[in-house]
Amino acid sequence: MALRTIDSLGSLAGKRVIVRADLNVPLQDGVISDDGRIRASVPTVEELLGLGAAVILISHLGRPDGAPDPRYSLAPVATRLAELLGRPVAFAADTVGEAATTAAAALRPGEVLLLENLRFNPGETSKDEAERRAFAALLARLGDAVVSDGFGVVHRAQASVTDLEALLPSAAGGLVERELSVLERLTTAPERPYAVVLGGSKVSDKLAVIDSLLPRVDTLLVGGGMVFTFIAALGHPVGASLLEADQIPAVLGYLERAKELGVEIVLPEDIVVAERFAADARHEVVAADAIEGSRFGVSGIGLDIGPKAAERFASIVRGSRTVFWNGPMGVFEFPDFAFGTAAVARALSETDGFGVVGGGDSAAAVRALGFEDADFGHVSTGGGASLEFLEGKRLPGLVALGWE
Ligand code: 3PG
Repeated sequence: MALRTIDSLGSLAGKRVIVRADLNVPLQDGVISDDGRIRASVPTVEELLGLGAAVILISHLGRPDGAPDPRYSLAPVATRLAELLGRPVAFAADTVGEAATTAAAALRPGEVLLLENLRFNPGETSKDEAERRAFAALLARLGDAVVSDGFGVVHRAQASVTDLEALLPSAAGGLVERELSVLERLTTAPERPYAVVLGGSKVSDKLAVIDSLLPRVDTLLVGGGMVFTFIAALGHPVGASLLEADQIPAVLGYLERAKELGVEIVLPEDIVVAERFAADARHEVVAADAIEGSRFGVSGIGLDIGPKAAERFASIVRGSRTVFWNGPMGVFEFPDFAFGTAAVARALSETDGFGVVGGGDSAAAVRALGFEDADFGHVSTGGGASLEFLEGKRLPGLVALGWE
């Protein structure tokens, strides 16, 4: 069954519509370093205002421990959202307490209110269903309907993502609809050749997705911190680079299975090895099977794929008809180690095929590296959610909206 969409809610004129968005943006000392998720939430808010509704936005930010914690306040998000919407956004200092209840009751059509972090309340993430439902019931009292538009969180069975949707008339927002149609395009008869580029720090985070993608792709390219476990699995020492030794048997299994399936797993032929983990660390390029042969010996640490690897990865990406990319190729936050990630981002923006940037770190990377306006097929707002979808899991936040 397809998702219920906003038009299924009937007339929303004069109604208070709760929008569950994913406004979980990176914050440093109250300053938003990447506002991609706020921007992605704007069209649905505008659509609802255009339909004559008042909008009550709810979201989590970070992982506070079920109690108020000023480090995770959504207040800076309200300010940025008001700038992007070009209209005031009221902010309530609690989620279901007096401030929120009073502000929600006073809201008029065309007005926007953002409530404080959902995860300041233990009921939001509780494993106890009754506790989650009780919190969802308090949220439900604030509005007449709920639009679920926080794609980045649809893989979580949390009060505002699943229980609230069962208590009020509910529908998916346009962002969730778009993200789902992209993921369905990646899983249902993708155009070939189909390449997946995986990076990021941990192999263990990507095991399930590798498992489910191997039979479906033509090429799997591996970079980022996780690549050192692959290099070590092939018997080459990796110095002080990130290594999950306990994952070596799993990696060997994937290399074997790929051979059987005729899938090419492409590992970088060269690596940028640094003296230490720092932006200004001395560094040099060495062959991937000679990391400890760098001048830093066993203490050398791989922080990026090398230039030959970047060129090869870029050329495979350019030559593919479908590409999904999740996870940076190196420590892109340090300019000296951003080359591999930028090369993949550039190639993905240049390919004639359908190029999808998985959310989380890779979406932040394309914006941080200046590819914000580049021509990608899609930049997802959901890291974990996209991966879990590609793993073949049923995502509870989508099931709550009628998806099967
Ligand atoms: C994300 O950043 O992937 C989403 O906002 C979900 O956050 P979570 O992993 O803390 O549930």
